[in-house]
Amino acid sequence: MTTAPTLEVYLEPDQLKDALRKDATVGLTSNPKWLPPKWFYDARGSELFEQITALPEYFPTRTERELLRQRSGEIAEVAAPEILVELGSGSSEKTRLLLEAGTRHGTLHTYVPQDVSVSALQGAAEQIGAEFPRLTVHGVVSDFTESLHHLPRGGRRMIAFLGGTLGNMVPGERAEFLAGIADVLEPGEHLLLGVGLVTDPAVLVPAYDDAAGVTAQFNLNVLRVLNGQLDADFPLDAFRHIALWDADNEWIEMRLEAQRTLSVRVAALDLDVEFARGEQMRTEISAKFTLPGIAGELAAAGFEVERTWSDPDDRFALVCATRS
Ligand code: AVJ
Repeated sequence: MTTAPTLEVYLEPDQLKDALRKDATVGLTSNPKWLPPKWFYDARGSELFEQITALPEYFPTRTERELLRQRSGEIAEVAAPEILVELGSGSSEKTRLLLEAGTRHGTLHTYVPQDVSVSALQGAAEQIGAEFPRLTVHGVVSDFTESLHHLPRGGRRMIAFLGGTLGNMVPGERAEFLAGIADVLEPGEHLLLGVGLVTDPAVLVPAYDDAAGVTAQFNLNVLRVLNGQLDADFPLDAFRHIALWDADNEWIEMRLEAQRTLSVRVAALDLDVEFARGEQMRTEISAKFTLPGIAGELAAAGFEVERTWSDPDDRFALVCATRS
């Protein structure tokens, strides 16, 4: 029997706008300036990210997809999920592999994709609902850092957080986020993480600074978002994309560098922002992990790593952890 997917919305456009105003105010008045990476993803930014995932230099997506292709059956056996919750599901493209394995294993009956984007979620929920007619699909539109309370109960759950997005958080934010997930799970329920591993900077840096310049466009898109949403006048051609490996913190950092002295007006914030020539603004960190490192962070949050799978070059890992 087929039931139409349901969608629950815990995020109003006003809330998102308020969060953007707050983030832009804090970040643009800090020294050094910075912006959180979540604001890359308007429709254009999401499309650019999709293009990034197909670039020859950007290995994480295809590496994770291959791992899921090979290991979804084992994951279904280890976690035996009845409900699969996916945080930041986007297009749910790689999730199909987990859904197939979960339904084949026989336990899985419900898929709960969560995303900030109503449009992405609606499309994905409908497609998945059609492809997996026996699966109950229940989309949740929310900000995942605040939405954990809205997760369904009534079956053994696995929360999947894929793509390496955990790396967008600094260690303190990760600790809080992982503890928040531990808080909503019952002992014995599972968390599946996809994380990028620390690897050769000669491989990592080009993944974030591709020859075709798609990542540069993606980075600059955050200025476009501020121009559109906050009535700002950032001249995009006055900024240059930078990606560097921070060996101490073990993260890739993306920045935008002002190529000349600038004064930017952010009308919606009644704010004027001065940039010196050569001034750099941080727009993203993408932290990479070691297996002992992520196991330690999970243990501190109340999880025990049950299995890990990585690719032959040790560039990406799937980590399946149990709530202790
Ligand atoms: C979607 C956050 C996992 O950090 O690799 C891709 C975003 N930034 N290229 C990443 C991204 C630049 C991506 N995540």
